[in-house]
Amino acid sequence: MTTLELEDIEASLTTRQIGRCPDWPNELWDSIESTNDRALELYREGAGHGVIVLARQQTAGRGRQGRTWISPPGSGLYMSFLLKALSDPRQIPLYTLGAGVAAVRAIAGSAGVELGLKWVNDLVHNGKKVGGILAEMPSPVNTRTGESFIVVGMGINIAFNPEEIPGDLAVRMDWLERIAGPVDLNLMVSVIAHEMEFISCQLESGHTDSVLSLWRKHSITLGRDIVATTGSATYRGQAVDIADSGALILQTREGKQIQLSAGEITIRQSDGSYA
Ligand code: BTN
Repeated sequence: MTTLELEDIEASLTTRQIGRCPDWPNELWDSIESTNDRALELYREGAGHGVIVLARQQTAGRGRQGRTWISPPGSGLYMSFLLKALSDPRQIPLYTLGAGVAAVRAIAGSAGVELGLKWVNDLVHNGKKVGGILAEMPSPVNTRTGESFIVVGMGINIAFNPEEIPGDLAVRMDWLERIAGPVDLNLMVSVIAHEMEFISCQLESGHTDSVLSLWRKHSITLGRDIVATTGSATYRGQAVDIADSGALILQTREGKQIQLSAGEITIRQSDGSYA
């Protein structure tokens, strides 16, 4: 894989706002604890919409549900966006889903790999995880007049050495260069920024439906048998649709419909196992 270079990325940006915050530079770190933590810190320092934080390595990368995101150098893309979101907090889940859409569209466009979205927004290839998204609200929320901000962090597996992957993870993960050969990381970042801007504009202008339709189009979740865990509850059934709120609609075997707005799912695979 190519090495991340801010100059190359900025030269190829096709966006109007993302990566072009007028009074705040984008950042590329050789090594940092977490790009999400850094973006949250920049928000507190006054950074505005569109700032991008990138790192070649993270020493304390964070995943969903309090998990660690393994982030060695030369293996993955670790990036976070600071975005101005609609002030209605009910819209926030849509930014999370939209970021998944942006990532799959950008990866298809820049690396030629079609990934699927597993709710909420795992990026998946043949049942294996290739990337994930961690969207976080800075706290305190809404300190600036009427504006909400959100940090969207993306971790994408690019080039792993199979021998360095812990045993239980090896069967569940995959990476782009194994699937499709060399990846131009700088181009990929620029295309992701372009797609994030598209999603952010759609949401800002009230075109929620089009973001949800794109999520449905790239979903590998809908129509599948799933097991969902949320808090201490577990549900089994079929994932039937995504609600306007971004919640996953699950139809249980007893014919009840449940809307899941948080939690984890596993999907029934062709061999009957759940992953
Ligand atoms: C997941 O658990 O699926 C989400 C993983 C998100 C990882 C990315 S890597 C860049 C950003 N910084 C972090 O600490 N986490 C996110």
